[in-house]
Amino acid sequence: MGEHKLARVGIITSGGDAPGMNAAIRAITRTAIHHGLGVVGFYRGYEGILTKQYDVMDRRSVANILQRGGTILRSARCPEFRTEEGRQMAAENLRELAIDVLFVIGGDGSLKGAQALTEVWDGQVIGLPGTIDNDLAGTDFTIGYFTALDTALESIDKVRDTADAFERIFLIEVMGRMAGFIALGVGLGCGAEKILVPEEPTEVRDLVADIQDSRAAGKLSCIIVVAEGVVANGLRSIDGRITIHDSTVLAKELQRETGLECRAVVLGHIQRGGSPAALDRILASTLGTYAVEAALDGHTGVMTGIRAEALCLVPFAEAWSEHKPLDAYQLKVQKLLV
Ligand code: ADP
Ligand code: F6P
Repeated sequence: MGEHKLARVGIITSGGDAPGMNAAIRAITRTAIHHGLGVVGFYRGYEGILTKQYDVMDRRSVANILQRGGTILRSARCPEFRTEEGRQMAAENLRELAIDVLFVIGGDGSLKGAQALTEVWDGQVIGLPGTIDNDLAGTDFTIGYFTALDTALESIDKVRDTADAFERIFLIEVMGRMAGFIALGVGLGCGAEKILVPEEPTEVRDLVADIQDSRAAGKLSCIIVVAEGVVANGLRSIDGRITIHDSTVLAKELQRETGLECRAVVLGHIQRGGSPAALDRILASTLGTYAVEAALDGHTGVMTGIRAEALCLVPFAEAWSEHKPLDAYQLKVQKLLV
């Protein structure tokens, strides 16, 4: 970080919100101010740049937000930014507001947008991985993932109590878009009898056999964690007549085939809320400061990340075009410990 000519930076949070986004906003704001930069926070992601809805931030603007879920800058999906004209207008507005660097905190879609912005705007663009899905390649973890795991686990532990009491099968659908990171994490964390992830093929027939084996082995309850991506892809019913795209329908199919009571619980958006876990606060704060320092060093078109406990910069395209694999060893552990 030697001489730099930067004067003013902008921040957006975009796409699915994630616990820890506020901690990242706070870290970027305070680090930028520490280095003598002005800070502008745009509201509702790319939409705020298009509509010029923003506030000038000072150190106090980000007081008492570190521990809060959601994002004080709000979030949105912005279809207009997907068009060339939309991005040209964003670039024009950023020029007019004399923004030198834009920090984009979001998931893969937001970072695709960030990449596209670099093609029409000559300012620097730096991304921060903000998504509960943990599906961005180039970083071991994303901001929000740890909290989502804790939140899901808290609920699943409660479901386990009633599952045991009634000796039932529970199918628990978790978020994660087309990736199985949340399912694998909570599956390990709650001792699920089975996890269904989009990265591995699932046959309903095998599932029925697994449930029957589990019952025969003396297990009273059975928790099956299913990633939403598996449901989105669809599962063929045993008779091959329908493709199941709904956890409740899948639970009914399992009940019919096993003769055991089976219920579905879709955890949904509770996984996105709540006070960030310690690891998300620490990750967001560290990456926020690192992102500003990367900008001061002249970087652009990169996402900040952490790999093997070392901070790193990942070219945008790498973050979303490369498939991030699930940890094979954790998959093995999950299967072994049931
Ligand atoms: P996330 O960042 O959580 O993956 P989305 O995929 O919905 O969420 O993306 C958030 C926003 O990023 C979109 O509403 C859009 O404004 C922008 N975006 C996503 N993909 C692109 C793209 N290919 N080109 C330009 N902008 C994009
Ligand atoms: O990317 C975060 C996420 O919560 C995904 O896990 C989920 O598929 C999606 O966003 C839900 O989006 P929405 O809030 O638009 O329903």
